[in-house]
Amino acid sequence: MKIALFASGTGSNALKIIEHFRTVPSVSFVVLSNKEDAPVLPKVQALNIPTLTFNRKDFYENGKVKAFLADQSVDFIVLAGFLWLMPTDIVQEYPNKIINIHPALLPKFGGKGMYGMKVHEAVKQAQETTTGITIHYVNEKYDEGEVILQATCAVAPTDTPAMIAQKVQALEHEHFPKVVAKLISK
Ligand code: GRF
Repeated sequence: MKIALFASGTGSNALKIIEHFRTVPSVSFVVLSNKEDAPVLPKVQALNIPTLTFNRKDFYENGKVKAFLADQSVDFIVLAGFLWLMPTDIVQEYPNKIINIHPALLPKFGGKGMYGMKVHEAVKQAQETTTGITIHYVNEKYDEGEVILQATCAVAPTDTPAMIAQKVQALEHEHFPKVVAKLISK
């Protein structure tokens, strides 16, 4: 079982997932990023995990990313802090085999441009009393694929966006590796 992790940020979720399967030799990883300086890259390279960085052309036009996934015999794709829309050809190549995590309870606070602290600031602004995470299948629209799991946490009136982010990240780290494990065992 080969899992491709798409990550363009710090990669804390990607690393939690990798760690979860450390003692499972049948599961291996490749990591892809559209940012050459993504902090996740040196971290996974230190674990001898192959990486690919790519640009928009490689993703949407010349087939380089798709070819890499095929070359590496990737079975399952996990988006963990990756913001670009998946191209149709990759979505079609991996039906129900691409999942994403969103740091809010979709359909609330989702869609293009809703990522990172912007999500938690919007949650604060809307005076929500609950927020959480959504793990969902990926289709050709932002944050609209079928929901696999949602988990919630309380938001106190005194919580800052940074405090909300911390609670949500704890939920991500707790649930994302388990959901991946469950789906790939199917
Ligand atoms: C997470 O909050 C995730 O929900 C979102 O991007 C963030 C990635 O964080 N899609 P990290 O790079 O895994 O720390």
